[in-house]
Amino acid sequence: MSEEQIKNPGTEHSRSLEAQFEARILRDEKIEPKDWMPEKYRQTHIRQMSQHAHSEVVGMLPEGNWITRAPSLRRKVALLAKVQDEAGHGLYLYSACETLGISRDELYEQLHTGKAKYSSIFNYPTVTWADMGAIGWLVDGAAIINQVPLCNTSFGPYARAMVRVCKEESFHQRQGYEIMVKLTQGSPEQKEMAQDALNRWWWPALMMLGPTDAESIHTEQSMKWKLKRKSNDELRQQFIDQTVPQAELIGLAIPDEDLKWNEKTKHYDFGAINWDEFWQVVKGHGPCNKERMAARVGAWERGEWVRDAAMAHAEKQTTSLKKEVS
Ligand code: 3HC
Repeated sequence: MSEEQIKNPGTEHSRSLEAQFEARILRDEKIEPKDWMPEKYRQTHIRQMSQHAHSEVVGMLPEGNWITRAPSLRRKVALLAKVQDEAGHGLYLYSACETLGISRDELYEQLHTGKAKYSSIFNYPTVTWADMGAIGWLVDGAAIINQVPLCNTSFGPYARAMVRVCKEESFHQRQGYEIMVKLTQGSPEQKEMAQDALNRWWWPALMMLGPTDAESIHTEQSMKWKLKRKSNDELRQQFIDQTVPQAELIGLAIPDEDLKWNEKTKHYDFGAINWDEFWQVVKGHGPCNKERMAARVGAWERGEWVRDAAMAHAEKQTTSLKKEVS
């Protein structure tokens, strides 16, 4: 069969390739970069993995803002370690993405021109130290819930990257929750600062897990391909059920007057999410979208000389190695 016929979705051969692929997914086999895969499977993974990587890198900005203002050396060290971890997560995910045939430069170009999304949650401001606690506790808490199922996703490099990421996320969530515990045990002003941060981060953290299942355009196919193992609403409910008792334990009130334990469903019922706000932020009209993009593009432009120097050094190394072996 010619390459053309294999590529042509209508031919017998390409249909059997598709059937073999679906059978592999059904058998929970890992799909590796060099394996045959439907073009849509490849594109869906480039979409989700690149947005995930962009989120990790842009996610460094809100917290980076507080490293020099941490209240103690211990807090500074923990926050510094967390922000560095996020950079590493971005690199794992960009590298996993490149195995699907897209270059790092293309990925950056998509982010810097606004073609690619990153998580809505990182477009909110960090106005007090308590925001560092709320981000670790809520944002990384939601991220863990979202990322643990991804350790079992069908695409090998993504699944393997997630195993390492999830181990580090657990530290991120613990250090954030510890900040909130300390503040709630401090002065009334400190407790109020923690409550204020919870009030501002609770709803954006629920939105971060994506639109409702009814609104989600990718969930059905992503579940079929075992890219997604749980739907957005399942992940959101799991996050709420896990986090409400943690807030109660430290005397903080979840800012949702409709929040109520439902003995029948064994889950918390919760109030309406402001999806207009979510889509406004996703479309670039959030409180910090412009600031975040300016910071990313600025860093890319200011770092050009470093990239050029590294490439020049690498080329010099290659030339001298070639001379040695010739
Ligand atoms: N922010 C921005 N865009 C979002 C979004 C969010 N929180 N949630 C959904 N969207 C976008 C989707 O990208 C999609 O747009 P597209 O077609 O242009 O890509 C559209 O809204 C429809 O949403 P779907 O639910 O159909 O999209 P998905 O099936 O991709 O589900 C998701 C969304 C649950 C976020 C999924 O992409 C996912 O699980 N991604 C991997 C995890 C991830 O990226 N997390 C982001 C945060 S990273 C992080 O938390 C780092 C930690 O260290 C703090």
